[in-house]
Amino acid sequence: MVTVGAVTIDGVQRKRANRLLLAARRSRARARLLSRLVLLGPPGAGKGTQAEVLERKFGICHLSTGEILRDVAAGNGLPQTSALKSALRYMRRGELVPDATILELVRERRDCLHAHQGFALDGFPRTLPQARALNRLLLQEGLTLDAALEFSLPMEQVIKRLSGRRICPNGHGVYHLKARPPKVDEQCDRCGAKLVRREDDRPEVVRARMNAYEKSTRPLIAFYKEQGLLITIKAQGKPNEVFTRTVNALKRNL
Ligand code: AP5
Repeated sequence: MVTVGAVTIDGVQRKRANRLLLAARRSRARARLLSRLVLLGPPGAGKGTQAEVLERKFGICHLSTGEILRDVAAGNGLPQTSALKSALRYMRRGELVPDATILELVRERRDCLHAHQGFALDGFPRTLPQARALNRLLLQEGLTLDAALEFSLPMEQVIKRLSGRRICPNGHGVYHLKARPPKVDEQCDRCGAKLVRREDDRPEVVRARMNAYEKSTRPLIAFYKEQGLLITIKAQGKPNEVFTRTVNALKRNL
């Protein structure tokens, strides 16, 4: 029991009060941030890592089209329709999945776009037709995009990040052998499963993904620049350093 002024509160009440205070603080912090976001950048730049922290710290809804497809591949997500089976074949080769399939997956998750705390679209859009379709979808839903964040990273660092990446096979997280190692060697901190290498992180597939990025996704940088939405963030340094840079870039000029 603790007495605050004339009021006595027990542990349960104190925990609840702390929770409410934390939620109110987060909500105030979020209100000061641009929070309807598209995340751009080459494979391995750290988009997923940053989106995960934005979700954890500010409750921003993280929508990763790559993650949805990996869930389908692992049998944890949607049933494998013929369109999704074909999508997985593109993915294994490091090529982009057809726009129509991706747009369907995003439309099915449009609730995320309405999340009170905002959204971070990670790996979508990836082509100009996808970007135009997103603009139309947002218009239909009465929403606007606040910013497109481009995470820029020199190629040699991209390769280091991809070659050291390991993931939990049960979808419990993304690790890096040096930069973000698990507590126990090669084991997921949350479920203890043996970490695995992503199928598309093999060098020959990485080359195809880089080509797809250069050819189809890089033009989105100019697309969002023209709309006055582009913010470029240097993705070098530790994940928490990049996060600080990201949050600073997202602060609204009130
Ligand atoms: P997707 O899953 O979106 O892959 P990607 O864009 O290639 O991006 P990655 O997940 O590889 O990298 P990331 O930038 O998220 O980096 P991460 O945070 O993991 O797509 C996969 C495939 O799905 C595509 O190839 C395509 O086939 C298909 N697809 C998906 N969306 C599509 C779409 N819209 N249209 C068509 N096809 C689509 O970090 C990488 C590593 O670095 C990790 O190990 C991490 O721990 C580490 N790391 C992160 N930050 C740092 C740091 N600051 N310092 C050191 N290490 C760090």
